[in-house]
Amino acid sequence: MTRATLVFNGIDKKIDLESQTNILDAARQMEIGISAVCGGRGLCGKCRIVVRKGAECLGPTIGLERLSLSEDELGEGYRLACCATAARDGTILVEVPPESAIEQQRLQVAGIETIVSPDPMVEKHLVVVSLPQLDDVKSDAESLITALSNQHGIGKVSIGHDALLQLPHAIRDQKNYLMVTLYGEDKIVWIEPGEDLTPLLGLAVDLGTTKIAAYLVDVKEGRTLATASSPNPQIQFGDDIISRISYAREDKKNLKQLQGSVIAVVNKLLQDTCREAGVEARQVFDIVVVGNTAMHHLFLGINPEFLAMSPFSPAVRSEVVTGSKDIGLTANPTAFVYSFPVIAGFVGGDAVADILATQLHKAESPSLMIDIGTNTEVVLSDGTKLAACSCASGPALEGACIEHGMRAETGAIERIYIDHENLEPGYVTIGGTPPRGICGSGVLDALAFMLKSGIVDKRGRIVRTLGTPRIRSANGIPEYVLAWKEETEIGVDITVTQKDVQAIQLAKAAIFAATAVLMRKLKIKPSDIRRLFLAGAFGTYVDPQSALVLGMYPDIPLNRIRFVGNSAGSGARMALISKKARTEAEQIARDTDYVELAADRAFREEFAKALLLPHTELERFPTIAQILSRKG
Ligand code: FES
Repeated sequence: MTRATLVFNGIDKKIDLESQTNILDAARQMEIGISAVCGGRGLCGKCRIVVRKGAECLGPTIGLERLSLSEDELGEGYRLACCATAARDGTILVEVPPESAIEQQRLQVAGIETIVSPDPMVEKHLVVVSLPQLDDVKSDAESLITALSNQHGIGKVSIGHDALLQLPHAIRDQKNYLMVTLYGEDKIVWIEPGEDLTPLLGLAVDLGTTKIAAYLVDVKEGRTLATASSPNPQIQFGDDIISRISYAREDKKNLKQLQGSVIAVVNKLLQDTCREAGVEARQVFDIVVVGNTAMHHLFLGINPEFLAMSPFSPAVRSEVVTGSKDIGLTANPTAFVYSFPVIAGFVGGDAVADILATQLHKAESPSLMIDIGTNTEVVLSDGTKLAACSCASGPALEGACIEHGMRAETGAIERIYIDHENLEPGYVTIGGTPPRGICGSGVLDALAFMLKSGIVDKRGRIVRTLGTPRIRSANGIPEYVLAWKEETEIGVDITVTQKDVQAIQLAKAAIFAATAVLMRKLKIKPSDIRRLFLAGAFGTYVDPQSALVLGMYPDIPLNRIRFVGNSAGSGARMALISKKARTEAEQIARDTDYVELAADRAFREEFAKALLLPHTELERFPTIAQILSRKG
């Protein structure tokens, strides 16, 4: 009897495989999460694995695999786990790529971890201060400054007003031991009597148009203690940035209202993360904020009016440092808020943070980063310089403004396949519960399979003549039923409507066109791109093949794609932990060339061509052309 040994690379688990046992079943026995939307029938193509060694111990590839995997992928060792069975003795080394790994995808929501050595803006020092004597009467401040110099080699410091108020009593309590907090090595901001061993904390905040995320960080250890997120309350004033800018322009009090709503959420996230970590908000001495330029202005209370008028110039491009209490944040009253520098009116500090986290500015070969959100930022490196632009992609890819759209949380349909013979769907929900709706990656998956199975044509129109009850019309709008009401938790059918399809088409066309314009500027071909970083919550969950089938980004091998989650949040954390990272961010903002798409005719041309699925010029998508022709 055959006894092959199956080893999962990077997971350090192995199992003996009996003849004819497939890798998906073995992975299930070992509790290794591999996406399997069709339940192992070889139909969805979601259970992709890469065989690194011992391919000869497996049976040959079967026809179903050739429908889902390209020739190149097969050549690189890709197989479908449900179709690859043990056939001969030996050791098989298998890797689960990110798009198939269920658990890994969950973890990546937090964003890529780029290691930086802790070198924070704030630091605490224990100082022993001599009390003044009659024969040597010094001021308390002089005694403290002398002690800091003698004991820690720190000279030339100033003492902030709050610290001065604390000093006289602190110096006389607790046997002259003081814990002194410094900001930027030269300003004493806080003084506590005794040996305060509580960690020194910072808060990194990513202000998204739709969502705000906060990370509480022990800045000395460089460790994230807690994270929390919340919808951006400004949504009530408009889904998109332009509506909010118009609202702010109408009246001064509207600007205050917009600013106040965001500050209130950041304060809530501060309290939530502190509660989760069992610490107090007064221990938070440093705050780093990233966001697109409009969010940056609204957060700081700067009128964003001119961002919406040609030439779309921001009020300030360089970093801004403010006192937290000046803008109403309830951290330690002496905490500073560092707002990331921005690149231009529509490419903000979030893109700078993305670049910092992915290290795109250090790439030696052409690399692309796409941060997908309501506004999508695209940054391209040709290996020597960076160019960036931004396009409005709408909230559809985040599950908003979709008939049954919802955030990527429990009950959201996130993976879909459609049998191209009987047009019946299969799906997987987050948490494995009955479906409540569809998240952005689910809608994209649905549309990719609707295209592959002929339910939508290349113009994105739902074809009503296919003779399945799943395609119907509601109030005159065609739709495809993904889940009947009996299977859902909400008691109504969950559908993908013609309007949903259009919203996704517009979004993907904008993203592709923005990418194509940058590639033209830097003279980069799809085959030149060695690495594509997909960022943002949507970018974490998306099936890269579905996005490619729809023509969202250039046709490049899937193994060059790296999911980096919320890399803007990761960049903000790096700048919280390291002064050097802050300096790098400032350099990135200065050095990145901005490409304005509003004035770019090439963008309009590319956009019009990209509205078709996958694209008007199919020759630009050879891999997709191959997949679509195989599906007939
Ligand atoms: S689970 Fe393998 S193709 Fe669907």
